[in-house]
This record gives sequence, C-alpha cells and structure tokens, in this order.
Amino acid sequence: MADQFTPIDKAQLPQHVAIIMDGNGRWAKERGEDRLFGHLHGVQSVRDVVEASAEWGIRYLTLYAFSTENWDRPQAEVSGLMELLVNTIRKEVEQLKKNGIRLHVIGDLSMLPPTARQELTEALELTAENDQLHLIMALSYSGRWDLTQAFRRMADKVLAGELRPESIDAQTISDHLATQKFPDPELMIRTSGEHRISNFLLYQLAYAELYFTDTLWPDFRRQHLYEALMDYQQRERRFGKTSEQLP
Ligand code: FPP
Repeated sequence: MADQFTPIDKAQLPQHVAIIMDGNGRWAKERGEDRLFGHLHGVQSVRDVVEASAEWGIRYLTLYAFSTENWDRPQAEVSGLMELLVNTIRKEVEQLKKNGIRLHVIGDLSMLPPTARQELTEALELTAENDQLHLIMALSYSGRWDLTQAFRRMADKVLAGELRPESIDAQTISDHLATQKFPDPELMIRTSGEHRISNFLLYQLAYAELYFTDTLWPDFRRQHLYEALMDYQQRERRFGKTSEQLP
C-alpha cells in the first residue's frame, strides 16, 4: 500500500509520532448519530495508522485515547469509551503480537475500573517481547498529571537522600515521566482543526513539530499520516540554533 506514495525518506522519518485523535463526536453528529458511534469508527483509523506506522518504520507511536479530563464527560460516554478501548485491545492483541508491536500504557491507571486494568496488564505482557513498533496508549493521561507524579517521585527521592536537588536537570525530569523509556516525539499531529495541545505531552513536546489537519479522526487514514510525514520532512528543525549552524 505504501508503494502508491512517493517513498518516504527513511533518514528523515520521525522516530516518535504522537497523535491527538480528535473529532469523533463531531463526525458522529454530522451523521445524526451518538458520540460513541464516532469513537467506534475511530478504531478503524487507529488500526490503519498503526499498520502504516509499523510498515514505514516509525518506532514509537503515542495515541491520546483518553485524557484525565475525559472522566468528566457524561457517564454513558465514559463507560462506553472504556468498554470500547478495552474490547479493542483484547480483540487486537494477537494481531499486535504477530506484527512485532509492543503495547504500552501511560496515564493514571488507578482511575480505571479493576477489570480494565487487568485486561491491560495481560495485553502488555503478551506483547512484551516485541520491539518493531512501540504503541503507547495515553489512557487517563494528562501532561500535568505526568509532571505532578514525576515531581512527587523526585521529592520522595530527595527526602530519602537518594537524589540531590542540585543534580536535578532536564534529563532527571524526563527520567521520572511516564514516558521515561521513550524518546521525545519529533512530530505531533492533531486532527479536527483544533490548534491546541490540550494537556497532552507537555514536557515531551518541547521541540516537536506540530501538524494540524481539519480531517476528523474517524476519516484519518494512512494517506493523511503520509501527508503529515511529508510535511514534517520539509521542516527545518533548528532546536534554537540558526540555519547556518545546522549540519
Ligand atoms: C476525541 O474526540 C476522541 C476521544 C476522546 C476518544 C478517542 C478514542 C478512540 C479514537 C477510540 C480508539 C480506540 C483505541 C483502541 C485507541 P471527541 O469526542 O473530543 O470529538 P469532538 O471534539 O468532535 O467532540
């Protein structure tokens, strides 16, 4: 399928792509359907994007599936969405395992119903040997939650005499975030025309290229990901330097 596109320059492929999958509710509303109908169709987009990412050699893909703020949505939507997330993971885990995809979850999992936590733990174990694509589900996640838990853990270590305050630097903070095992995303995509970060990976996106598209998440397919990658490859990443200083 990738063959129908101009080849992606592998040397300039982001290692880590993070996506805010937005617009499911509006997509459903446009069709006179319930919001859950939009989430249900969003699953097909997830499949397509995961498959393409693995094929094209992206190493890390983080999907913002449920934010800590999403718990405040109407109860029926919250429970429907939880059920969908857990059922999808249960249904897809064998496929993930077969395709070399390792599943990770980041977020405040203490908020999840115990059965959902159990299902997730099993899915994580089943794919733990894989290394081709790391699929990171941000579930009950927010950037402020992540920073808060990192600072608390660092404070505990300081109190225990295991960490000296003067030794804390940017790397120490990264090492205490939920994403400690992953490199920072180089590319962040948000669908549905909203231009916000919405409490996603606040610390980790410091140097990410941001890509916004009007496409609603349930319509997002591999060709949209391809367009985002092509756009990324045109960008000059300067990290605060001047163009002339770049290699
Ligand atoms: C945002 O759209 C989307 C969500 C809060 C849920 C995303 C979940 C999925 C796409 C299901 C994915 C399944 C797996 C396994 C990851 P919105 O409801 O905020 O849309 P709106 O802005 O149009 O109201």
